[in-house]
This record gives sequence, C-alpha cells and structure tokens, in this order.
Amino acid sequence: MKSEKDSKAMPNAHLHDLFVDELRDILGAERQLLKGLKKMADKAVGENLKNAFTAHHAETEEQIERLKQVFASIDLSARGKKCKAMEGLLNEAEEIMEEFEGDEALDAALIAAAQKVEHYEIATYGCLVTYATLMQHEEARGLLQTTLDQEKDTDSKLTEIAMSEANVAA
Ligand SMILES: [Fe+2]
Repeated sequence: MKSEKDSKAMPNAHLHDLFVDELRDILGAERQLLKGLKKMADKAVGENLKNAFTAHHAETEEQIERLKQVFASIDLSARGKKCKAMEGLLNEAEEIMEEFEGDEALDAALIAAAQKVEHYEIATYGCLVTYATLMQHEEARGLLQTTLDQEKDTDSKLTEIAMSEANVAA
C-alpha cells in the first residue's frame, strides 16, 4: 500500500543502488587502509609525517564509524566489500616502500602513495555527497561531508609536509 508512494517520495531513486554500492566500496577501502596507514607510520622517517599518518589512522577509524551511521540512516546494515582500487593503491605503496627503503626520498615517496589514496577517497566521498544530496538523504549527506572535509584536510597537510621537509634536501 505504501510502496508506490514511498518510491516516489525519494527523489532520484534510480541512484539508490549505486549509492549503496559506493558506500560498500568505501567501507571496504577504509578497512583495508587501516593496515596500510600503520605500515606507513612505521616507515616514515620525519616526525611530522609519522604523526600525520598516525592521526589519519585514528581518523580512519572514526570514518568507519561514520559510515556505519550512514548505513543506519538509510536503514541498511553496514556491509563493506573488497575495494580493488584500494588494494592496488596499497600494493603500489608496498612496492614504493621497498624500493625507497633507506633512501632520502622515502618520505616523499610515502607522501605520494598516501596522496593517491586520499584522492581516490575524495573522489568517492565527493560522489556520495552528490548522490545523498540528490536523493535528499540529509543525515547521510552531513556525515559524508564531514569525512570528505577530513580527507581534503589530510591531503593538504601532506602537501604541506612535502613542501616543508620531505622534499627538501638536508
Ligand atoms: Fe578515509
């Protein structure tokens, strides 16, 4: 009785499945990233970079909790799926860590790997904010925007560190 009315009540309902699929992808990605950030924090030489990775690890845990709230806000259980893009980005990060082990450019290489991850996340959260806006999922939109802002801040911070130390020859 209510189904037809409800399906019309949500604007841009055709985006629903895509929205959920992208949410599952980024939940998987964030979980995969936790391990990667730990390793990057271990490998980083500069104190600022080490701290930035450690801080972002804590933020990533928050982001996972926030994603669970997003799922709850649309009455779905939080389920992630393996993110192939994140897997690839983290494999490359591993490679670059091995290649630049003991090299002066190691921190710069770690920053490059981390910024590629951030840009992937920024693209995904950006799309999710757009879909939530179009479907008028207000609560989800606010939560996703908070994470998007955090990812952008992390990206800027990494650029700052790169400019201030990692890429400057001692
Ligand atoms: Fe994240």
